Amino acid sequence: MGRRELSAMKKRILFVDDEPSVLDGLRRMLRDERGRWQMSFVGGADEALSAMRETGFDAVVSDVNMPVKGGFALLAEMRRDARTQDIPVIILSGRVESSIKRQALDMGATDLLNKPVDPQDLVARIRSVLRLKSCHDELKSHNEILEQRVNERTAELAASRLDIIWRLGKAAEYRDEETGNHVVRVGYYCRTLARAMGMEPDFAETLFLASPLHDIGKIGIPDSILLKRDVLSDPEWEVMKRHCQIGGAILQNDPRPRSTRPASLGESAAPFARSRNPMLAMAASVALTHHERWDGTGYPAGLEREQIPLESRIVAVADVYDALRSERPYKRAQTEAESFDIIASESGRQFDPEVYTAFEGVADEFASIRAELADDACCPVGIGSQP
Ligand SMILES: [Fe+2]
Ligand SMILES: [Fe+2]
Repeated sequence: MGRRELSAMKKRILFVDDEPSVLDGLRRMLRDERGRWQMSFVGGADEALSAMRETGFDAVVSDVNMPVKGGFALLAEMRRDARTQDIPVIILSGRVESSIKRQALDMGATDLLNKPVDPQDLVARIRSVLRLKSCHDELKSHNEILEQRVNERTAELAASRLDIIWRLGKAAEYRDEETGNHVVRVGYYCRTLARAMGMEPDFAETLFLASPLHDIGKIGIPDSILLKRDVLSDPEWEVMKRHCQIGGAILQNDPRPRSTRPASLGESAAPFARSRNPMLAMAASVALTHHERWDGTGYPAGLEREQIPLESRIVAVADVYDALRSERPYKRAQTEAESFDIIASESGRQFDPEVYTAFEGVADEFASIRAELADDACCPVGIGSQP
């Protein structure tokens, strides 16, 4: 092993004392340890702090009484700084100062030694704190590895949950015309709108996951009605409308009573926040109420204004925007301008005016989401985890 490698493996110890004679004494006392320890000697606390911030040390031995900044001030600054807080510190103090010793331990000193220092005692104490530091370092790196693994697994789980949600949403719409990335885009539009309205990040992220399931209830609608090219008869239309209750029933997982007629915007978000699975609770709420209209003429319950949960007022705009911009066997795709005009004309009628105002402000983002997630784009798993 070369000289350089050997010195890289040496433990680094910093000695701090304002009296040069004390430092000289320590240097002589520890001459035999030079093969194992790389020792530095400084005359004050500030000098010690800058040396520590430049180079990692494994232990510090410091005097208590020093002019300008004493050993306690040094200890306090070290414990506040992430770069130095884990370095063990041995405080050197006078034999009679028992209150100082207690204070030193309270402030996080690792060990104490009386002055004048006994050389064998000093070597033994330094070895002891170095062992402590090695154990601490090992534990810390082990924890860092574990934390990294947990983060990786969490990211994998989040990506797979998102993938399953999107596929489930697409499965529900597979029989009728919306077989592309409609449900995926709706999630992105909704998150954009929620953020633009100043909603909490938690609300925006939950809506991002919940909104692609808005039409899951179509699974329960017979082909003869879902795929009918002609205008639906009144009884058929009543069956079609049931996709809201079917979706709500599929996603409802919380047996506790929930308010279906929230009185205010604040309360409208409360059921999802109280649920044991907030995402499913919000998805159930969206499935049930995404066809309600601001003016009270929607279905299934004819809710109006803030009686409609906020999440569904947001989904309504996102869903209609995407439907307008999409080509269908019975219609061409509306342009951006046409779609905006139609949605603007429905503000205060079909749509919440506040959601419409937010929509106006994020027009460019909607257009780029639409362009990036076109129907023939491959499944964009992973994008969802971005902030
Ligand atoms: Fe629907
Ligand atoms: Fe939809």
